[in-house]
Amino acid sequence: MELLKTREELQSWVNNRSSRPRALVPTMGALHQGHASLIDAAVKLVDSGDVLTTIFVNPTQFGPNEDFASYPRRLEADLTLCESHGSTAVFAPEAYHIYDSNSSVSIHESKLSRRWCGASRPGHFDGVCTVVAKLFLLAQPNTAVFGEKDFQQLAVIQRLTRDLNFPVEIVGCPTVREADGLAMSSRNTYLSEEERAAAPILHRTLRSVANDISRGKFPSPEVAREEIIERISSETLARIDYVDVVDSDSLEPLDSFDNHLPRLLAAVFFGNIRLIDNVGAPQSIR
Ligand code: PAJ
Repeated sequence: MELLKTREELQSWVNNRSSRPRALVPTMGALHQGHASLIDAAVKLVDSGDVLTTIFVNPTQFGPNEDFASYPRRLEADLTLCESHGSTAVFAPEAYHIYDSNSSVSIHESKLSRRWCGASRPGHFDGVCTVVAKLFLLAQPNTAVFGEKDFQQLAVIQRLTRDLNFPVEIVGCPTVREADGLAMSSRNTYLSEEERAAAPILHRTLRSVANDISRGKFPSPEVAREEIIERISSETLARIDYVDVVDSDSLEPLDSFDNHLPRLLAAVFFGNIRLIDNVGAPQSIR
């Protein structure tokens, strides 16, 4: 496995291997089994081609009061994970390789980014779109793999790819969870023991309400949404940021379940740590 640290190293690696199919797995490092599952999927997708994993804590997607400075960085362990799952190369640049010190161009997606994580984290998706577009331009992949864990991000990146005509196939992979259902996340390590014990209520509630939606228990998405809020609020350590029941494709909030594939989205603080999760309710197509 090759470690590429600069933009020049990446570009010459790409030029040398231009005839091979290439899958890109963008990450911010502190890798866990969720990221590993994306590398596994990428290996299968490109067959005997290349899998390029990127490890870059992207400054432009963090707000001024967010955890950019304290975001976990552990390159050595990350490289071991990448190699053991079959990455051909890892691109792990410093910020100045990606952003000029006075760069003044960014990419803004104006519809899917408005609500939920976009509303709670102003500018976040501009940073995501800008860095993903840069990675596509530098790495020129055929395929790029992202997790459904960040469902809104996946939709925004699909839109970015479509609207800017990137010749990249976007592949979404299911969320990998801890044994108690908590979605794996680099931020889980910040949770105190009590918060970690409380956090599975997020997935437990979404799963259970999704099942109830499928059984036709709720007359409307709004009632299902209220049920999620009530159940999560029963946990004293939990503070809800948002909960919504949306259409899986358009991400529009649902007024009714008719002819929709509902997706339940939520972000919840446990202490200062904000966790997100989402679950589909597939059987409810009527
Ligand atoms: P990061 O949070 O490191 O996540 C990298 C990729 O791993 C994303 O596609 C994310 O959805 C996926 N992922 C995270 N946890 C997962 C889990 N438990 N199961 C499955 N996939 C999971 O998302 C980002 O980085 C950044 O915004 C990035 C796209 C790299 C742009 O900077």
